[in-house]
Amino acid sequence: MTLNITLRQMAAFQALARHRNFTRVADELGLTQPAVSMQIKQLEGQLGVALIEQRGKRMDLTEEGEEVLAGTRAILQRLDDLESALNERKGVKTGRLRISVVTTVNAFAPVLLLIFQQRFPGISIVLDVANHKDLLVQLADNDVDMVIMGRPPVSPDLVAGAFLENPLVVVAHPDHPLAVRRRLIPSALSDQTFIMREPGSGTRRAMERFFTEQDLSFISGMEVSGAEALKQSVQAGLGLGLMSRDAVRMELDAGLVVELEVKGLPIPRHWYLVHHQGKRLSPPARAFKDFILTEASDLLRDKRGQA
Ligand code: PGA
Repeated sequence: MTLNITLRQMAAFQALARHRNFTRVADELGLTQPAVSMQIKQLEGQLGVALIEQRGKRMDLTEEGEEVLAGTRAILQRLDDLESALNERKGVKTGRLRISVVTTVNAFAPVLLLIFQQRFPGISIVLDVANHKDLLVQLADNDVDMVIMGRPPVSPDLVAGAFLENPLVVVAHPDHPLAVRRRLIPSALSDQTFIMREPGSGTRRAMERFFTEQDLSFISGMEVSGAEALKQSVQAGLGLGLMSRDAVRMELDAGLVVELEVKGLPIPRHWYLVHHQGKRLSPPARAFKDFILTEASDLLRDKRGQA
């Protein structure tokens, strides 16, 4: 069988497997929706199998689709590795670095990227910001070289290095009745309204785990996407928020929100640099990994006002 399939078709299929939605794939790839449908149809035609099945609004991959997805991932990964290997031969400190960070990290990532960029002006950086779950998908799809996130799942497929503490705290509007109280016990939080992060957020998972461990309940208030929206909602007085202290440092310093002093908090966590186990890191990616693991914590310490 002589297959005549293209990298574009494979990329379109990989994006479709991720989004399960033609419009979103079209947006991501800068194509029209009919063009994406056409790519998928041509791929199916060439392979002689159906790759997707539509049940009402829900789109699933067929069994063959899952197998083709694994194959396209391997091919695209191989090409990426080839590019890295060739760059390495040239010994260049130029090229592209593709990273994704969770929304909270976006609060300090630009500081680090500025220093990295000044050191390696030849490296162009593509930065994406998403939540924990989306970052794991991007890693699996080889859409990024590496990501910065909270504790990743334990998996032989992932290499993760902790480089910075990431305490999770409960913050409140300064007029909140709990704001003036000292040394609260965790049960003081029960039956309080908390603004919730979206499903797929690592912060949300850590919060749910904390309440389960403490055997406490809370009232779910508004649900918002991203650390910035959570912070704004707490600042507006819509409820309490459990979040990384990194996301609210400026607001804490300015007195716009206050950190509640609760026994058992902060939840001790770390930030991790994570990449896929099988990923052949390009020179820019290796330089970035070294930089983050060896220097980021010192560089940020001053900014965080830690001794
Ligand atoms: P998130 O990030 O809540 O924005 O997903 C935190 C994490 O990765 O734990």
